[in-house]
Parts: sequence; C-alpha cells; structure tokens
Amino acid sequence: MSLFTPLSVGALDLPNRLVMAPLTRCRAGKDGVPGPMVAEHYAQRASLGLIVTEGTYPSFAGQGFQYQPGLVTEEQIAGWRGVAEAVHAQGGRIFAQVMHAGRVTHEATNGGHEVVAPSAIAIDGETRTYEGKRPFPVPRALETDELPGIIEEFVQASKNAMAAGLDGVELHSANGYLLHEFLAPSSNQRTDAYGGSPENRARFVAEVAAAVAAELGADRVGIRISPEHNVQGALETDPEETRATYAALVDQLAGLKLAYLSILHQDPAGALVQGLRARFGGVVLLNSGFSVITSREEAMAILDSGLADGVAVGRPAIANPDLARRWQEDLPLNTPDSKTFYTGGASGYTDYPRPRQLTPGGWPRSSSAEPPAVVLSPPIRPERVRPRRTHAYADGMESPIQSYLESLHAEIAQLRDGRPDTNIPGISNADPDKFGICVSTVDGYVYEVGDTRDEFTIQSISKPLTYALALADLGTEAVDEKIDVEPSGDAFNELSLAEGSGRPANAMINAGAIAAASLIKGSGGSSRFKRILKTYSDFAGRELDYSQRVYESERRSGHRNYAIAYLLRQFNIIEQDPVPLLEDYFRQCSVLVTCRDLAMVAATLANSGTNPQTGKQVLELDVVDRVLSVMATCGMYDDAGAWLSSVGMPAKSGVGGGIIAVLPGQVGVGIYSPPLDEHGTSVRGGAASLRLSQDLGLHFVHAGRTGRSAIRASYDITAAPSGIRRNDEAAEVLRGHGHRARVVELNGDLLFAGTESMVREVSGLDNHVELVILDLRRVDDAAQVAVDMLGRLRRALSDAGRELLLIDGEATLPYGLAGNGEGGSSAAGPVPCFDTRSAAVEWAENRLISRYGSELCLPEEVPVTASPALAPLDPADAKALAERMEPREYDDGEVIRRVGQRFGGVHFIVSGKVGSSVAEPAGQLKLSTLSAGMTFGELALASEDRQETTVRAEGPVRLMVLPAEAIAALENEDPRLAVELWKALTRDAYTRVDQYLRETAVRLND
Ligand SMILES: Cc1cc2nc3c(=O)[nH]c(=O)nc-3n(C[C@H](O)[C@H](O)[C@H](O)COP(=O)(O)O)c2cc1C
Repeated sequence: MSLFTPLSVGALDLPNRLVMAPLTRCRAGKDGVPGPMVAEHYAQRASLGLIVTEGTYPSFAGQGFQYQPGLVTEEQIAGWRGVAEAVHAQGGRIFAQVMHAGRVTHEATNGGHEVVAPSAIAIDGETRTYEGKRPFPVPRALETDELPGIIEEFVQASKNAMAAGLDGVELHSANGYLLHEFLAPSSNQRTDAYGGSPENRARFVAEVAAAVAAELGADRVGIRISPEHNVQGALETDPEETRATYAALVDQLAGLKLAYLSILHQDPAGALVQGLRARFGGVVLLNSGFSVITSREEAMAILDSGLADGVAVGRPAIANPDLARRWQEDLPLNTPDSKTFYTGGASGYTDYPRPRQLTPGGWPRSSSAEPPAVVLSPPIRPERVRPRRTHAYADGMESPIQSYLESLHAEIAQLRDGRPDTNIPGISNADPDKFGICVSTVDGYVYEVGDTRDEFTIQSISKPLTYALALADLGTEAVDEKIDVEPSGDAFNELSLAEGSGRPANAMINAGAIAAASLIKGSGGSSRFKRILKTYSDFAGRELDYSQRVYESERRSGHRNYAIAYLLRQFNIIEQDPVPLLEDYFRQCSVLVTCRDLAMVAATLANSGTNPQTGKQVLELDVVDRVLSVMATCGMYDDAGAWLSSVGMPAKSGVGGGIIAVLPGQVGVGIYSPPLDEHGTSVRGGAASLRLSQDLGLHFVHAGRTGRSAIRASYDITAAPSGIRRNDEAAEVLRGHGHRARVVELNGDLLFAGTESMVREVSGLDNHVELVILDLRRVDDAAQVAVDMLGRLRRALSDAGRELLLIDGEATLPYGLAGNGEGGSSAAGPVPCFDTRSAAVEWAENRLISRYGSELCLPEEVPVTASPALAPLDPADAKALAERMEPREYDDGEVIRRVGQRFGGVHFIVSGKVGSSVAEPAGQLKLSTLSAGMTFGELALASEDRQETTVRAEGPVRLMVLPAEAIAALENEDPRLAVELWKALTRDAYTRVDQYLRETAVRLND
C-alpha cells in the first residue's frame, strides 16, 4: 500500500492517502467568517486526498483563538460555502474540524462568553486574546443538564458545515480542547455519569459522535484523538487508565461505523495506537505529533508498514500547497515558516511557491474571484501599512527586490503631504495612512508591500481601460473621430473640447472618458456597464464589483460631469441620452480595486495585453500601443510632461488614491495611497513611482522592450566539475556535497526584468545551496539596478550564511561588485570574482572540501606510494614502482611538459600544483589544475605518444616521475608489475573520462 493509492473514506473516494491535518491559521475575520483568502488557501491544497479544515467553533463560547472561523452564523456558513466551492472546483474534498475550545480560551477571545469545561480547573499559563495575553481563566464546570445543549451545538455546527457544501466533519477530541478535557483525568474530575471511570470519561465524546453521526450519516463523520499527548493541561499519564479510556471510547465509536479515526500519537507503531486501530476496525489516519515534522519518509513508512490507512500531514502541507505532487515525485520542498502560522494575511498562507516547472495552467485555480496569488508569484503581503519582514522564498531567504520595496515603502510612508479627495463625498473619508506598493513582472510574479489588498474605487484609472475597450470594439479610426489624442495640458475636469467639432482632446480627461464610455455598446445580453466591468475584471484577473455607495454619491454630486456630457451631446460627440450614459460612467469610476489589481492591470498592459497570471488576452497589441501612448502623453493631465521626463513610464492616476505605471515588456506597477497633490495624483504614489523608476532603471529611455529571462542555465557543480582531479576523499566529499554549489549562467542585458529574474532564481534556490556562482560572461550590459540588486542579493545570501561568487572575465559590472560597488564592499569583503568558470568552480569545490572533508581531502603532500592512481596496487608493488622513479622539482611558471613532446613517463605530483593548457589563437586556454596526489603525462600514450597539453608549475612543485625508459625496462623485467601498473593507470584514466563526459553533457545541455 502506498501513499498514492486511492482510499475510500466513508462516503468519499480519496485519490491518495495524504490528508491535510487540521491547522489553525487565524485568517478569518473577527466575525469568524472565512473569506476568499481562506478559500484560496484550501483550494491550493486540493490535490491532497482530503483536507480537514482548521478547528472551527460550534458556538461562540467555544471559540479558542482570535480570527478563528466559526460554523455558527449565516455569514460564516456563506464563507465556508465559498471555501467548499473553491476546493471542489479544484477536484478536492474537504471536512470541517468542529472544535469546542472548552477551557482553552478567554472571554476576551470568545466575545465575552463564559468559559466552560468539564471541571472548574484552569490551565497554567496565558492565552493570546484580542486584548493581548491573559492568564487562562478558571472555567465554570458544565452542569450535567447542560451537556445535551453542547451536543446540540456540535450537531448544529455539523449540519451547518453540510449546508455550506463541505463534505463532512471531523470532531476535534484531541489536543486538550473540550472533548479531550472530558477524556483526560486531569481536566475531568466530575462525579456524575461523565466523570470518574474510563467509561464515564469517554461517554460525552461518544455521545457527541453518535449524535452528529445520526444527523449527518456516519460516513460523513470522522474523529480525532490524541491519547498521551499531554498538552494544555489535559494529562494522561497513567498508561493503563489511558488505554482503558480510549478503548472504551473506540469501542463505542466502532459501532457507529464512522468515516475514520484520526490518531495523533508520537509512537504510531506502539501497542496503544495499534490496539486502538484494531478495535476501531475502520479507516485510521495517523500523525506522529508536533515534536518532529512529518517527513515524506515517515509518511511512506507508516503506509508501507501497514500502520495506518492514511497519514494526516500538517506543516509540510502548510508550506507546500502541491505536497502530493512533490512527495510523489520527490521534488524539493518549501520549509514552513512558523513565524507566519498565526499572523494573519496572505504571507505564509497563500504565497508559498510552487516548483518552477509547473506552468500557470497546471496550477489548481481557486474558483474564488481572485486567482491564487501563487499562480506565478510567491510573495508577500503584509496586511497593514507597516511592512513586516516576511519570508518570500522557499527557504527563508528574502528577495532583494522585496526587501528593496519594503525599505522604499517605509521611507515614502513618512510623506505626510496632500489629503484625500473631498470632491466625491463617497470617498472623502479614505484613510490617509493606507499605503501599498505592488509590482508585477510580465511573467506574473508579484511583489507586494503594505496595504495592497484594501479595496478603493478606481476612479480615473478606469479611463484608459474603457478607452481600450472602445478601441477594441470600433477600431482606431472610429474612435479618433470622437476623441482626439492630443495632450490638453489641462486638469482632469477641464472641458478641453476642440473648437467647432467639440471633440475632446483625449480620452484621459473626463470629457474624453465620457465620450469613450458612450462608444461601448451592450452586447450578447450584457449591458454596457457589464461589459466594462468584465473588461476591468479581465485586466485584474479576478471578478471585480463596484461600490454602490460611491456610485450614488457621484450620481448625486457629479454636476460638472453632467455639464460636460450635455455639451458633448450638443456637439453630437455623444449620440445618446447623457443620463444613463453618465450613470454607467459613474459606475465605472466606482469599480472597487486593490493595489494588487492595479499592478495586474498595469502588467497586462506591459505584457502586450495578456494578463500574465490568467493568461487571458484582454487586448490586441495595437490597442495596447495606442492606450499606452495616450497614457504617456495625457495620462497625468497637466503634469504629464514633467511625469514623462522624470518617471518615464506611461501612467494613470485616480482620485481614489490609486496609480498605475507601465513599463512595456518589463513591469506593471500599482500604488495606493489616498492623500492627493494639486494635480489629483497620490502624493506617495507619485513619489514612489519616481523612486522606482530611478532605482530600478524603469524609465522608458533606459529600458528596452525586452522582458526575457536572463537565466541561461542553472546547474550544480556535480554536473559540471572544475576538471581538477581530486583524491578519493575529496571526490567523495564533492559527490556528497557538490549540490551545495550552484552555477547560474546569465545572458542578455541585466536591466530591471533580467535582474529581477536573476534575483528571483537565486533567492528561490534551495536552502542547501551554500555557494552561488553567477556566470556573467554572456551578459552584454548591466544597469545600475543590477549592481544594486546584486549587492542586496549578496547581503541577503551572506545573512543566510551563503556566499556569492562571480564569473565576470570582462568586468561587465560597471561598478565592480568585487570592489567599490554598494554590494561588494560589505563587511564580508569583496565578492570573489573569477575569469573562468573552472576557476570559480575550483574555488567552490575547495570551499566545500574544506568545509565538509577531512584534512586528507586537500593534502599538501602525497608520497608517491599513496597516490590515488596507485591505490589498486598492493603496497609492495607500489614501493617497487617508486624505486624506479626519479624525483624532480620545478619553480613557479616553469614548463614541465610541452605540447607535442614525446611520451616522457608518468608524473606523480608529490606536492604543489600544476596547470595544463593548450594554445588558442586568443592565448593559452587553461584546461585543468592538478595537485598533490595526482598524475599527468600518461595520456600522451593515447595520442601517438605525443604530449597534448603544456603542463606548467603553479608555484613550487615536487614530482616523482616514472620515465618512459623505466617503464620499458619494467615491461621486460617484471611484466606482471607492468600489467598492474597499466591496469591502475587505465582505471584512473577512465575516472577522468567519466568526469569529462559529465561536464561535456552539461555544456551541451546549455
Ligand atoms: C499551525 C498549526 C495549527 C494547528 N492547528 C490544529 C487544529 O486546529 N486542530 C488539530 O487537531 N490540530 C492542529 N494542529 C496539529 C496538526 O494537525 C498536526 O497534528 C501537527 O502539526 C503535527 O503534524 P506535522 O508534523 O505533520 O506538522 C496544528 C498544528 C500547527 C503546526
């Protein structure tokens, strides 16, 4: 039986035996409603055989944690419906864990309800509440006649789960919460029928299970227990007592024929667990508890040895949404970040990365409105203004680009100028502290910091989008007849109509935008506004809606826009009743977006009209070109010229506080901060755009229209060794640890896009990679952003105890990371920089050998009898050969063998190093370096007796040489020994050929 064979669990058929263990994550609203982010989280994990949700409370009194979801209110049920739909849309199955916290809570957490438990015994210690940490209270002991009410709460919550469309429930009778409190003698000192004997203590749990099973059908009900877990004061320290209690419980459960019994116990193979399993007789899931994180090996072993029918997996499923695939294919794993387990927000929740090789289309999509953030992007979404440092990548290393954005955000957040718009009553109370920055690359990788998920109204950023739709519907010519493309130099609400024709100057001012909206027609059963909204949603990659409140307020107070519309009507620029048109226009301005949506809108424009995350083509390229041109010249109204010359990106701002900026072929930027300047542009938005442009080299005159990846190849050095021959010890170390050094070959220009893909690649390398060798030899040009980001990358690597090496023979980096650049001159000293790949790899190999090997690996001196080439000989034979050798010594740079010389014998290096090279038109090409313990010269025998390379001493060298004549004599005098010698040399030569072939294979794969 394997983890990946299907399993029937109650009414469900699971495709594999991996069950997502219940994991409290505190991501619901304060009202206990799980929102779209929770849906996204679970939907991402739909490929696991079964998902069991976090513990959800069946009554307010039973709430144990802040931001815990419940199964009580209509809103909570609706929230779970969204989760169920999202998981089912991905083909998954999901049970709700129903959990009454019992005494493991506080009134400041559970909304002021009385804390209840089997007995009035408090837990030692403190609990985190909405009001900070508080000591656990002494609970009130439940009266016997209250117990049916609690059972009813479990039943009702379970029915609610089913009403929400979940597939069943798991009763939480583990980890010290209410049900477990009844089981454990330390927390249950009752004297009624529910306390005292093992049978009595088991009674309440069995009654709950029976009642829920009767209501839902037993095949929809599982239960979780954790005997001897001894947490939260629920102590079960008497083995016999414990065995008897759980035996009594499981005997009663067995009769119910529940879907499964889930056991958390650190000894899955032990008599207690296996005894309970035998008693239960149905599907048993196992989890070995918190002390050691479940590993693939452990999970497989549990199944292979038949200890359980399935495995409940906790933390690996937190960090690896696609755990089933990763474990099945033995792919590298992300490490769970315990700092984000309970912190709220998407960080560490929906943003764990997936393996690079998955295509966007291959990723399970949530059916929730917003596509999962991880489709292509990991990072990072601090919830509030103050950016938190969050892990961004697989192994805890933060992306330098993310860290740059965080520092930029912190800096610009200090700006206190401007104030939110007051003209539109519906948005005048915007929070001036809100501030988010979001950058999306054209391949959909998103960096976010601050308030990037708060909704606000799109306002004028709608203009280019509706204009684009009009262009797509009618073509440029027809639209140009109605709306010009001239910068007006006026403010957004100026009329700016051409004399005579009344044609608005451009589509970015209100007159032009109203005219553009008038060109959109309803079609296929969709009204004009529905089509507009659909287009915006396609841009954002999620379904958007509009704010009825802001719409109403604009409708009531937008007098100037009414005036504009009537004037346009008079000139026949609009050919319809202005009032319904304006209503749609006000609706379009009231569409709710987030900063992240804006970044996706911008990235769609940057990506030639295709949303980089959904892959949907929203616009044709010619429309994109036209829209971006008009945004460049007119998007920032009367500030357009200054904007274009300083920021240099087509952009559009809205009085809601949003701003988009687009660098074609590279990035889309969305920023949100409500305080506006005199042009109606977000103050922080403007300042952040300028800094992004300067710091990341995003001005269009600097950045070509190319977003191709800069990564040419990425491989570890075991696949492409330096070519240096090593002794057996060192070769063994490199075999075991070579994967810790990785070469990343770059090509093209390192402008922003190339730099970004480079830092993304490096930041995402697995934790075991300690040495990162960046090969810059094929990089044509490196902008300042590359130097800055390499500096940051280098610091981030060194903070994580890792090293950066460069291969940069032609000094591509203009400011020389190795010397005076920002990144180079850190406390860690200059970045080691090499001319050739083999030199860099040799350095890395030596580093690994000295780190992981013994002193035997890099010996200063190797007596000839200990030479690896002679290792197959017995010591007497080696000694006999040594006696026929001559010692020779060379100084640095001296030629030992020259190319074309006749075979001159086998040379054994006793100490020092030699380099072999061949002449190339461009000079000597170094092939390899050999050190103590190695041999050379013998390969001449394979090439018509001629030396193929020139061998020079690198520093003082001592050799022992078995000259050609001595070998000839040996063949006559001691043919057996001669054969042994040739056998040993042949073996040695094949080892080298093998190494050579492996290196060549890598180069060919490049
Ligand atoms: C963050 C976190 C939250 C948890 N929340 C719950 C919970 O709500 N209900 C529950 O029965 N167990 C909960 N557990 C326990 C896990 O289900 C699981 O048993 C534990 O993490 C050990 O398994 P692992 O090594 O696979 O992570 C939680 C564990 C963690 C790490």
